[in-house]
Amino acid sequence: MVDDGHSILTSEKNVNGDNLTSLKWVQSSPLKNWSRQKLNRIRELILQTTGEAYEIDRLRNLPLDENFGNWILSDGDIDYGIFWAMRLSNTQARVLAFSVSEQLQSLGHGSRGWSKFAEAARMVGINHVQLEVRQDNSIAIQMYHRRGLRPKGYISGFYGGNDGWLMKGPLRNFASSQ
Ligand SMILES: CC(C)(COP(=O)(O)OP(=O)(O)OC[C@H]1O[C@@H](n2cnc3c(N)ncnc32)[C@H](O)[C@@H]1OP(=O)(O)O)[C@@H](O)C(=O)NCCC(=O)NCCS
Repeated sequence: MVDDGHSILTSEKNVNGDNLTSLKWVQSSPLKNWSRQKLNRIRELILQTTGEAYEIDRLRNLPLDENFGNWILSDGDIDYGIFWAMRLSNTQARVLAFSVSEQLQSLGHGSRGWSKFAEAARMVGINHVQLEVRQDNSIAIQMYHRRGLRPKGYISGFYGGNDGWLMKGPLRNFASSQ
């Protein structure tokens, strides 16, 4: 488990009502080693944040890259976010899932998660990234746009009848105003 030593202070409370004093993006153990309960919680997180329902076994078998593709936002006990990505080639990665728990959104966690991923991916030669996003998800589309990704393909019936964009671009650690 990788720990960058940087804590994120927040005044939010977790599901038990305890104060969340320290939330960090950390690299996780392989999904195949996760308990069914841990996978089920993440399944619920994905369902709540995106409306997408995945089978536990499908999640368990995702081909996440062990160097840069398996991050969780954790207080050391409970998971509040995921950033999952896979390697497509020597230089290209694909983001498979990116979710932050609803009560913790818009606090900068997503931005920090992207940076952790980008930093780790660049270390192993990745310089381009792609992902799919629903066309009605304007917050995420703008977030990716500020990181240099652009719509490159239209995905009809992407999820639940909603259309999506394939977005691609150079891998940047941080947002820019462009
Ligand atoms: C997308 C998501 C992971 C981002 O995580 P987050 O913790 O909310 O993100 P942040 O607070 O770091 O904000 C990321 C950027 O969006 C902007 N942003 C956040 N909330 C916003 C809002 N309500 N309105 C407009 N912009 C917003 C931030 O200013 C930030 O800007 P930056 O690009 O200059 O850094 C999270 O919102 C989420 O889980 N959404 C639902 C699932 C989803 O849509 N996943 C992506 C599927 S492709």
